[in-house]
Amino acid sequence: MAYSDHSAPTLTTVLTAFGALIVTYYAYNIFSFLYLFLFHRSTISRYLHPPSTSAASSTSEHRSWALITGASDGIGMGFAYELASKGFNIILHGRSPTKLAAVETALKAQYPQISTRLFVLDAYPCSVAAIDDYIRGLAEDGLSIRILVNNIGGGALVKPTFRPLTKLTAEDVQKLFDLNVGFPTLLTRALLPVVQEPALVLNLGSFASDIPAPWLTVYAGSKAFNLSWSRSLGVELRAEGKDVEVMGLLVGEVQTAGHPGPVGLFICSSRTLARNALAKVGCGRHTVVPWWRHAVILALVLRLPETLLNWGAVRASSSLKEGEKRHLEANKRNL
Ligand SMILES: NC(=O)c1ccc[n+]([C@@H]2O[C@H](COP(=O)([O-])OP(=O)(O)OC[C@H]3O[C@@H](n4cnc5c(N)ncnc54)[C@H](OP(=O)(O)O)[C@@H]3O)[C@@H](O)[C@H]2O)c1
Repeated sequence: MAYSDHSAPTLTTVLTAFGALIVTYYAYNIFSFLYLFLFHRSTISRYLHPPSTSAASSTSEHRSWALITGASDGIGMGFAYELASKGFNIILHGRSPTKLAAVETALKAQYPQISTRLFVLDAYPCSVAAIDDYIRGLAEDGLSIRILVNNIGGGALVKPTFRPLTKLTAEDVQKLFDLNVGFPTLLTRALLPVVQEPALVLNLGSFASDIPAPWLTVYAGSKAFNLSWSRSLGVELRAEGKDVEVMGLLVGEVQTAGHPGPVGLFICSSRTLARNALAKVGCGRHTVVPWWRHAVILALVLRLPETLLNWGAVRASSSLKEGEKRHLEANKRNL
């Protein structure tokens, strides 16, 4: 007599279940994407005390402060304008008193209701004592600091930017570490004990941490630190019962002084980047791609087979390296 096992799943059942899993996975990803970029409502206003609707202290130093590093230019300046437009007082950090004063004047002209302060400090070499002293001063003045934007950083802070690791001097490596890793870490360490809760920390990361970046390896590695650190710090602070939101920003190409060129389909302005980053506050993620077009391009690129991705990365970095070389040679000739 033939024996048949009716309980064994047929091939069709297995394939259907597998297909359903794949569909669920993609549906979830599409839903998350749409939710984040279309339906999520930013909770940035919870960091504004007193709330913007309150008449009390609306022009005073008692309002919430945001400290932005590297705010004399680029994305940092974009954050300064966007946060000022929401009513936050702004501490502009940078190394050039003249550039900072010019940004301060322009900011106050556009948003006369806010207060501003300047934090002039060269982040390289990174002085722990100078950071601690400045933060102690803010605490003694009783400032209600609720937002820190760790923006300072970049690969173009050493020239030429695109070089094999062995062609970087020890000082170049130290500078890249100090500006991208050391300074934000030490500043956050000094500031967290004096921030008023609820508080928000935003850390600028880069696609360079997720996509291979040959000839830019120290920068790429330090940006991976920014994101991994954001995730762990966010979880740690929650576990310790602190109301401090930490968000690492995965940033693609943005038009800035350090990254000149036209705004394009996948290249946004500093203000667009800052506005979109602030729009994601409260989304519950510790790392986020602020601008939807950057998110689309990153998702597509990361789905490429690794060999193709590596080949593309070498092509793209080689062409940037050659472009920079020509630019530096032309500058030298014009001197
Ligand atoms: N732009 C992009 O395409 C892009 C892409 C991915 C990630 N990011 C990230 O976004 C952040 C900002 O980049 P960005 O393009 O806006 O840079 P940027 O235009 O070069 O501006 C950098 C800011 O940092 C300041 N700074 C530089 N060295 C300093 C030092 N030693 N001490 C104190 N301040 C110093 C600059 O001051 P000065 O005005 O005095 O030079 C300026 O305010 C970086 O963390 C970068 O990694 C940028």
